[in-house]
Amino acid sequence: MSNVSLEDIVSLCKRRGFIYQGSEIYGGLAGTWDYGPLGVALKRNITREWWKFFVEDRDDMYGIDAAILMNQNVWKASGHVGGFHDPLVEDLKTKKRYRADHLLEENGVSPVGMTLEQMDFAIREHKLKSPEGNGLGEVRQFNMMFKTHVGATADEASVSYLRPETAQGMFVNFRNVVDSFYPDVPFGMGQIGKAFRNEIAPRDFVFRVRELEQMEIEYFVHPEQWQEKFEYWLGQQKQFLLSLGLPEEKIHQVEIPAEDRAHYSKRSVDTEFDFPFGQKELTGLAYRTDYDLMRHQEASGKSMEYRPKDGSAPFVPHCVEPTFGLDRLILAVISTSYIVDELNGEKRTVLKLPARLAPVKCAVSPLLKNKPELVAKAREVYRMLKNPTADMPGPQMLYQGAVVWDDNGNVGKRYRRQDEIGTPQCITIDFQTLEDDTVTIRDRDTAKQTRVSIDNLKRMSGFIAWEK
Ligand code: GAP
Repeated sequence: MSNVSLEDIVSLCKRRGFIYQGSEIYGGLAGTWDYGPLGVALKRNITREWWKFFVEDRDDMYGIDAAILMNQNVWKASGHVGGFHDPLVEDLKTKKRYRADHLLEENGVSPVGMTLEQMDFAIREHKLKSPEGNGLGEVRQFNMMFKTHVGATADEASVSYLRPETAQGMFVNFRNVVDSFYPDVPFGMGQIGKAFRNEIAPRDFVFRVRELEQMEIEYFVHPEQWQEKFEYWLGQQKQFLLSLGLPEEKIHQVEIPAEDRAHYSKRSVDTEFDFPFGQKELTGLAYRTDYDLMRHQEASGKSMEYRPKDGSAPFVPHCVEPTFGLDRLILAVISTSYIVDELNGEKRTVLKLPARLAPVKCAVSPLLKNKPELVAKAREVYRMLKNPTADMPGPQMLYQGAVVWDDNGNVGKRYRRQDEIGTPQCITIDFQTLEDDTVTIRDRDTAKQTRVSIDNLKRMSGFIAWEK
């Protein structure tokens, strides 16, 4: 059974140390979440896969890591100061603000394609109230960027913003990468990093947050190539999601109508996913034309022209942008893996994560923790797998050091706990180990136990390692 509720996921994430509420001991800070030890490991495993798939394994990609704070002129030129808004409406009594489009949607009125005035009209026509039952003010635009001041003075010249997308860090470094690496067009830049949006209604756990992480690519093409590359990246995005174990039937690519596209986009296709709370955007793909490079060329006075090596006419490349929200991807992976099944007549919760993504790959336990000889032997096996020597490439590659020691409670409880965090293999050292140097390996998905010699464990032979 995998019809998991969001509450179940939030509860497991907190209980087992994946994700905690941000600033929890002070009552939290809305729209922020802290990744705990297992959440960090899962996040790193996903970013590693992404970086390998989209940057490392390719010849046409350049990775960067730009500063989060940027010159305010970047955001003026990119159009974010003037156009990165959400439509807001204020409760006239409490002064709380709400997304006008969300209010309309929740009341059965589709806001798709509506202007501010039309939303305002629809709110009056349907006599909509705030969630507290009060009257609503006029619908207004609200800029979602977090504003700050850089340095000691708090004047207009020192204004900066926390970046609302990682993309601009790549556009402003386009010239640098061309000058350092002389790439042939088409080529791309990739970046993983934090972005910040002052969302009015953060909701659905890490789905809509104020501090998020993005994994983005700006792929620069000749203007005549954009359609072909757009289709190509749509395919690559889907392939990556499938490689993380997301089921194809839950992935939907949706064409975004012109009136709902971001200010820079001439074509957008969102990949939506069936989250526990409905079908929602997981990733985006936009044809940003030459909008960003041209705007930066005009505003900075620096040329963004690309000169082909074959001597053909210089041009400002166009850009196709595949973008992924990492927090949403983590939520999609957890909600896909969260399974409740039955084992020996009892219900169990198991996170059937692809083994590559599991935060813990293997747990090692003594059958009983009050038998020193079992504990000593188990410690030996644990050390061997946690820090394998160079002559043990199998355990090195398979477990990557993500091995934990677990002697809490009885062995049944340990298995349940490891199932809940998605540990693919549990190794137990029992009395037979002391006699013949064999251990049991328990498989998370089948709960089947296989007896294997420690020698074979070192060489990873005699039992089937995961292929997922
Ligand atoms: N550079 C293009 C860009 O930022 P976007 O559609 O606004 O496009 C890209 O954002 C991705 O970032 C989305 O597909 C989504 O996965 C993620 N994202 C956007 N806003 C988010 C939020 N408030 N919380 C979590 N993820 C968010």
